[in-house]
Amino acid sequence: MDASRERGRVLVVGSINTDLVACTRRLPQAGETVLSDSLATVAGGKGANQAVAAARMGASVTMIGCVGRDAYGAQRIDELAAEGIDCAGIEVSDAHPTGLAMVTVSAAGENSIVVASGSNGALSPASIHANEARFRVCDVLVCQLETPPETVHAALVIARRLGKLTMLNPGPATHPLPVDWLGLIDYLVPNEFEASILAGFSGLAPDASVTAEQAAGRLHRAGARNVVVTLGERGVYVVGDGTAGTHHPARKVRAIDTTAAGDTFVGALAGKLAMRAGLMDTLTHAQAAASICVQRRGAQPSIPRLEEVRACVAA
Ligand code: RIB
Repeated sequence: MDASRERGRVLVVGSINTDLVACTRRLPQAGETVLSDSLATVAGGKGANQAVAAARMGASVTMIGCVGRDAYGAQRIDELAAEGIDCAGIEVSDAHPTGLAMVTVSAAGENSIVVASGSNGALSPASIHANEARFRVCDVLVCQLETPPETVHAALVIARRLGKLTMLNPGPATHPLPVDWLGLIDYLVPNEFEASILAGFSGLAPDASVTAEQAAGRLHRAGARNVVVTLGERGVYVVGDGTAGTHHPARKVRAIDTTAAGDTFVGALAGKLAMRAGLMDTLTHAQAAASICVQRRGAQPSIPRLEEVRACVAA
């Protein structure tokens, strides 16, 4: 049997960024300037982070995305390839620079991120159709919302037509998902802010009176087969086919940087599901992976490998 089939095959359609990370005592308020005594350049992007997380869990991973024809783009592809990720579906744009994220991390480990999309915005539905062969051989498709919505939609439609498992991490979320999207999604994995917006409970701001459970229930009833809401240090809430709403508490750890914790969870979830693990086992490993990630700095450098996750689960 093909070894990649045994390992489980994950296809990620998504963003590839370079993160410029400054650590500050606290996050700046509107109109405020704060000083930082550190600046790091780190591999990031929700799509690339999730691809790395799935690969480090042992899955065979292919990535479709778009970088610019610049030094950052070349570095990002080299690093993904060094993880064993198939990068042949990553385009190189002459017209746009590689995506850049300005990340501020406070002493409490919280972050705020502004993404200049650059070449991520140039990933078109035509690129998705041109890569249909990569969809045919995957087990799980994973997308986010840092590439154009019409591109994400095209990917979900193709994967659904081919009978593949589909996962959407809807970040960043700015408005409710069109209803016809929800029926295309096997695993919708928002954080609670995104869940509230997606469920249409509020306008552009999360509504504090709406619980993650209510938002998840509404999204599931509207068509998403399973909804997994990440709640940070409170764990995750899951509702779906054959899964009445259940809470899964997080491990108690001291977080120093939460950047890419959600991506680590999503990538690990996809990797384990591609390996046909059961949902409980999958959640346990994905939560353990995220708990390790938050104890380290940076996006991709903080994502753990399978042996570390196994040791954490066994501890
Ligand atoms: O989820 C974290 C990621 O969001 C960062 O790596 C940054 O690039 C943005 O895409």
